[in-house]
Amino acid sequence: MDGKKYKVAVIGGDGIGPEVCDAAKQVMQRVSELDGNIAFGFTDFPWGCGWYKEHGRMMPEDGLEILKGYDAILLGAVGRPDVPDHVSLHGLLIAIRQGFDQYVNLRPVKLLRGAPCPLKDVKREDVDMIFVRENSEGEYAGKGILEEDRAEQVGVFTRKGCERIIRYAFELAVKEGRHRVTSISKGNALNYSMVFWDRIFAEVAKEYPQIEANSLLVDAASMFMVRDPARFDVVVCSNLFGDILTDLGAAIAGGMGMSAGANIDPERRYPSMFEPVHGSAPDIMGQEKANPMATCWAASQMMDYFGRPDLGRRILTAIEAVLAEGKCLTPDLGGSAKTSEVTRAILEAL
Ligand code: NAD
Ligand code: IPM
Ligand code: MN
Repeated sequence: MDGKKYKVAVIGGDGIGPEVCDAAKQVMQRVSELDGNIAFGFTDFPWGCGWYKEHGRMMPEDGLEILKGYDAILLGAVGRPDVPDHVSLHGLLIAIRQGFDQYVNLRPVKLLRGAPCPLKDVKREDVDMIFVRENSEGEYAGKGILEEDRAEQVGVFTRKGCERIIRYAFELAVKEGRHRVTSISKGNALNYSMVFWDRIFAEVAKEYPQIEANSLLVDAASMFMVRDPARFDVVVCSNLFGDILTDLGAAIAGGMGMSAGANIDPERRYPSMFEPVHGSAPDIMGQEKANPMATCWAASQMMDYFGRPDLGRRILTAIEAVLAEGKCLTPDLGGSAKTSEVTRAILEAL
């Protein structure tokens, strides 16, 4: 092997997280063997709700320091019914996203061949959008008060934060030859933060006259995603809106088992983190029912990030081949195959 060896930290986390990470690791391993010019060294970290029960925290105090030594992070999912979600998620997932200033959350909503779509009269190519979700501040800034009779949750929108994510969306459109950037906001009701966001979107859009800039209110955008998904190309939105709309996106592109996301620090000061959009799915954990495709897709995004989009495409093509054949699918896709069988099918397709 003459090429580079990448150090990848793996945080399987809770529920089905370790199961789907195991699949993605096998896929990356196979890709490395087939290519011969790239290699991955995996280190597993047992952090998550189990760790919390033992140590009173979701990861060690110097967890971020430890992760800094890696080229990328593969994360499964976080959350267990016996630990409050706001404790587990802020203690690990959000701590990494914000601690490493992974301010871009890239979530493709693309209907692969063979993936089920619940929408009527929609062509496959009509569902092909890429969400650029703000991932470092906004509604997730974690500021506010929680008292007996009152709670306040403060959204923090800075010029730096809004500008950089909106500019990233336009740059992505230019780079990928896409034609339209849609901003999703809610300036009619959120009369400070979203007015600010809309203003900055209009400013940045002026720098990209070749890209069509479009603005939608989040309620109407939800409706259009179902009624007319073809109108979306690159989409940019705040942290919370991006969270909600990408579950809707998953639903129209095959389900939670099909939806991946990359948490990126574009300046590469810190490792970026790749994960499925879904959660720990405690209802199906340990039963070999989890669809590993979303996490394998996240591994594909990691290849793009490592500067090997050819390998990213290779993984996605293998996932699509298994889907299109339709013989080896997990129950969420109407099949009866096990997680390990679908993983094997993807390895064979590679
Ligand atoms: P969820 O995404 O875990 O599950 C929603 C539904 O989708 C469930 O019916 C589940 O069985 C199904 N599902 C999810 N992933 C699947 C897969 N790969 N294959 C087949 N079916 C799949 O969301 P939830 O139930 O709202 O949350 C469960 C826990 O996960 C909570 O603790 C929540 O806070 C946490 N959560 C974590 C993340 C994350 O770590 N990134 C994301 C969302 C939710
Ligand atoms: C996601 C998840 C997280 C989010 C939760 C678990 C904090 O839903 O990655 O979509 O809201 O960002
Ligand atoms: Mn979510």
